[in-house]
Amino acid sequence: MSNFQVVEHPLIQHKLSILRRKEVSTKEFRELVDEIGMLMAYEVSRDLPLEDIEIETPVAKATVKQLQGKKLAIVPILRAGIGMVDGILKLIPAARVGHIGMYRDEETLKPVEYLVKLPTDIADRQIFLVDPMLATGGSAILAIDSLKKRNANNIKFVCLVAAPEGVKALQEAHPDIDIYAAALDDHLNEHGYIVPGLGDAGDRLFGTK
Ligand code: PRP
Ligand code: URA
Repeated sequence: MSNFQVVEHPLIQHKLSILRRKEVSTKEFRELVDEIGMLMAYEVSRDLPLEDIEIETPVAKATVKQLQGKKLAIVPILRAGIGMVDGILKLIPAARVGHIGMYRDEETLKPVEYLVKLPTDIADRQIFLVDPMLATGGSAILAIDSLKKRNANNIKFVCLVAAPEGVKALQEAHPDIDIYAAALDDHLNEHGYIVPGLGDAGDRLFGTK
């Protein structure tokens, strides 16, 4: 079974608590998602593989470490995932960015895919698949199906708020994918919203409702 980890860093927890407040403006919401995205990336990148390289400092030759392999890829699930990208790029500026566009049908709650645009060599890259919300899990499952269809397998799913229902569904569908969240909330309501959650992340991020 995949690993599910709540990232307990105090700065993440503090900023997430502000993010949840209903009076937070679009501007503040955007800034907080950006900051939390960056802090999550710091934790999620802990086990990236390193290799030894030889360099010369102004004083002597030295064997030092650098990240191994190709630059990683950040793949946001549109729309709300976009809010996490810039924060992660602040830490990993050379990362490639792919996009998977998906929305939840409001009646069925099933995700509908409308865009997939990925680096051509996505199969060779470590991927951070990002979306602030893991609710029923449908969007994350379909996005990972889509990545795996393109032979990408080295994927970490990074979200801010997860519902137990979504974690279970994602672990069952993709037991090989590790999941990182800033919080595990209580449950989903009858409209598929996470409780207590933070509302509709896409709308709050882009000011569309
Ligand atoms: C939200 C969110 C996730 C999805 C999670 O997107 O950003 O992608 O719902 O729900 P699920 O786990 O039940 O699939 P939404 O469909 O609202 O689209 P948007 O980001 O374009 O607003
Ligand atoms: N998508 C959101 O944006 N919020 C939720 O609570 C559930 C799905």
